[in-house]
Amino acid sequence: MSKHASSQVSKPPTVAQVLARGIFALAKASDSARTDAQILLAHSLKKDRPWLVAHGESFLTPGQAERYERLIERRASGMPIAYMLASAGFFGREFIVNEHVLIPRPESESLVTEAVAFLRSRVDPMRKAQILRVLDIGVGSGALGCSIAAEVPQAAVEGVDISAEALAVATQNARRLHVHRRCTFVQGDLGAPVAHRSFDLVVANLPYVPTADIAPAPDPVSFEPRLALDGGPDGLDLYRRLLEVAPTLLYPGGLLLLEAAPPLMAALEALVKGAFPDAATVSLGRDLGGQERFVRVQASLP
Ligand SMILES: C[S@@+](CC[C@H](N)C(=O)[O-])C[C@H]1O[C@@H](n2cnc3c(N)ncnc32)[C@H](O)[C@@H]1O
Repeated sequence: MSKHASSQVSKPPTVAQVLARGIFALAKASDSARTDAQILLAHSLKKDRPWLVAHGESFLTPGQAERYERLIERRASGMPIAYMLASAGFFGREFIVNEHVLIPRPESESLVTEAVAFLRSRVDPMRKAQILRVLDIGVGSGALGCSIAAEVPQAAVEGVDISAEALAVATQNARRLHVHRRCTFVQGDLGAPVAHRSFDLVVANLPYVPTADIAPAPDPVSFEPRLALDGGPDGLDLYRRLLEVAPTLLYPGGLLLLEAAPPLMAALEALVKGAFPDAATVSLGRDLGGQERFVRVQASLP
């Protein structure tokens, strides 16, 4: 779909024509070429996808056709759609994303479900101004922490990230979701900025991809920041360091939820058991696809 080719067409192209060309251009780069082409065309035309289906014979203006063509080229190079549209859906809400943050994954949603259920079980209806303290380490876009704040009005969330650029995105998302008064973000290494403080709930989805497994370009993952992916030789470097301090970060009875990839769960669970020899419970949680996805640790009560 080169500029040269499109300039040879005397009549302006129709929705159906550019869609067919876009699908063809994306066939190699994407497993969901049709959906991707529809999303990008709908975005270029500022319409929704059902509109495209009903208006296949509508003509595009040259500006619209060019905008769409540029998007198709970027997508064909492997760039994830979420970065192109600066938006990703997570737990029923839209989050701003850019190349400084990981694109939130649906696999992380069950961790949020677990976190929300735990906090709700802690809500005391007799207390008017109850605050439940939540820490999100490696907060990135704020997908976990802001979703938790949006679901549980008693939650006060602190998000830590080593990346100032990621924290800027999390701050925007907290505002967008109207939870900014209950979310604070601080730059630092793992638990260092909140040392000597305790929380009802700590969540972390730290980088856990083994260094050697980080996909090279043009894999979509290669567009994501290495800082959000690289977990060291076996993927567990950051969790090892976090677990040195994690027991001090939890109130008695508090909950820690740590996300990683299914193949790492047994090793992560073993590390957690070593760090929390007196935990009330240590168990594994599954994502919506039924895969083991997070370790759940409940600190014991005195
Ligand atoms: C896998 S991403 C998770 C982002 C977000 N929590 C989510 O679930 O979508 C990991 C995040 O940890 C951050 N990070 C990496 N090393 C860190 C460190 N030493 N201390 C704090 N954050 C770190 C990265 O910048 C990145 O935003």
